[in-house]
This record gives sequence, C-alpha cells and structure tokens, in this order.
Amino acid sequence: GRVAVLMGGWSSERQVSLWSGQGVADALRSRGVDVVAIDATPDNVLQLKAQGIDRVFNVLHGTGGEDGTLQAVLELQGIPYTGSGVLASALAMDKLRTKRLWSAEGLPTPDYLWARSRADLDEAVRRFGYPLIVKPSAEGSSVGVSKVKSADQLDAAWQLARGSRGDGVVIAERFVAGGAYGHEFTCAIVDGEALPLIRIEPDGEFYDYHAKYLSDATCYHCPSGLDATLEQKIQAICLRAFECVGARGWGRVDFMLDAHGQAWLIELNLVPGMTSHSLVPMAAAARGMDYASLCWAILETTLA
Ligand code: DAL
Ligand code: MG
Repeated sequence: GRVAVLMGGWSSERQVSLWSGQGVADALRSRGVDVVAIDATPDNVLQLKAQGIDRVFNVLHGTGGEDGTLQAVLELQGIPYTGSGVLASALAMDKLRTKRLWSAEGLPTPDYLWARSRADLDEAVRRFGYPLIVKPSAEGSSVGVSKVKSADQLDAAWQLARGSRGDGVVIAERFVAGGAYGHEFTCAIVDGEALPLIRIEPDGEFYDYHAKYLSDATCYHCPSGLDATLEQKIQAICLRAFECVGARGWGRVDFMLDAHGQAWLIELNLVPGMTSHSLVPMAAAARGMDYASLCWAILETTLA
C-alpha cells in the first residue's frame, strides 16, 4: 500500500515538522515503502482516501495535526495512522487538562494555576515564587514559554503565552529546581515500551526552541547516568502518564528531576520531533535501533 507522510501543516511548529517529515519520508523510502510526502493543508487532508493513500505516518506537530483534528479526519476516511486517537491527542495537546488527569491518578506534576488574567500571574507568584514558568496550554517546542525571574518580566511573559491571537489559555507553573541528578529529562515510548531516558543539558536558561533545534551547545546524555533502579521507576511513571490519557503507538514524556530524585511530569508529546536533533531517535539509537528501523517500527504500530 501507499503511505502518506504528513508534514508541515499550519501550526507554529511547521518548520520543525518539515524537518521531521523529510527524515521520515527518506527513511521509509530506504526501506522500500511506497511513500508520498505531503505538506498538509486543511483541504488536502480531506482528500487522502481519494488519492489512494492506505496508511498515514503523521509527523504534523501542534495545532491541527497533533491535537485530534487530523485524527478525526483520518477516522472518517477509514485510514490507519501512526500515533494516538482523537481523545488522547486532544487531551495531550491541552497541558491544563493533562495535568488535572495526572493529578487525579496520583502522578507527580508541578503545582500550577490556570491564569485567566494577567492578575492571576501575581497570585501564582505569591503561591509558587520565582522563577515562575509561564506558558501556553496548547503549544509545542517551547513556543511561548518563559521562565520569569522578577515582577518586571510578568507582562511580557503573559503577552507571549497568550499567543499571536492574544486569547490562548495560559498556565503558571512552579519551577522544579534540579540537583545532582540533573534536571531536564525525557522518556521516549515506542509500541508500549519505554526507551532509555535522556538527560538534557541546555546551554541557556532552559531547553527552549533555540536549544532544541538550532544550538550545537545543548548536551544530551543517553544513557542518562541515573542508576538502574531509579531509571526503571521513572520509566514506569512515564508509561503510566502516557497511558493515563489513552495514548498509543508512540510518544514522548518530558519531565524534571528534583534534588531528591523525584520526577515531575511536564508534558506529553504524541507526535514528537523526528529531526536530526530530536530525542526519540536518540533514545532509539541507545537501544541499538537506527533511524530507519525506528520509523519502520512506528509505522508498524498502525497495524496493531
Ligand atoms: N513538539 C516537538 C516537536 C517535540 O515534542 O519534539
Ligand atoms: Mg511538547
């Protein structure tokens, strides 16, 4: 059958998705798959069945592609696709509701509040202190995220997190300080299995858009250096966090580790980056799975 790699799209992560999609399309072709790479638009995703597409490898990040919208369109056309279904996709793209579900499951996620107005950020500072994380509920690649260190930075952080339309849902979150274990981590999940954890050492304040895709100064450690017992305990938490929203196929769970070795869940990515700098390919490599084998394994999950 013919596989469409859906990439690009119309979210703020369009460029990242084009990088991801090019890699995936090339890798699947190298494995002999009949691939068409499609720069997705709201119109052409409605025509996939009519174009003879039998399966979709979805690499659209963010709005439209990762949030349940595309998934519904594919369900209606009866086309199997990689990644999670409508509900899990919509939930995971909504950090506010994801955190509520995790909390209800007893899973650890940093304290937060839903900032409905600029004044709510002052309340967040009273509760959580500085630095304060201010971010959009529904973005990816750290777009719109600020680490606020003083009151004079709050206005700008509020504006940035509201997004280009100025009406986005904003979360203010307690900053989790790291310690000897390191700080920012991620856990890739492929076909129900947690891959080796990656420890990230950004060059700047946090692992922002620049550190993710542009910087050569970001350091990645995989294996993470955590002892095996702690690593396994955290992998189990990440799998629960993934399953909690009903996610399937593949994804990535981002978390912070505090000075006591406690993991704090930050977010789920159900269409994680697949660029040459990306984390899921890095974790797969640590498991002895090269990029093309990883793409193949993810494509295979559409058969489950
Ligand atoms: N949102 C980006 C693509 C990631 O999570 O990798
Ligand atoms: Mg994300």
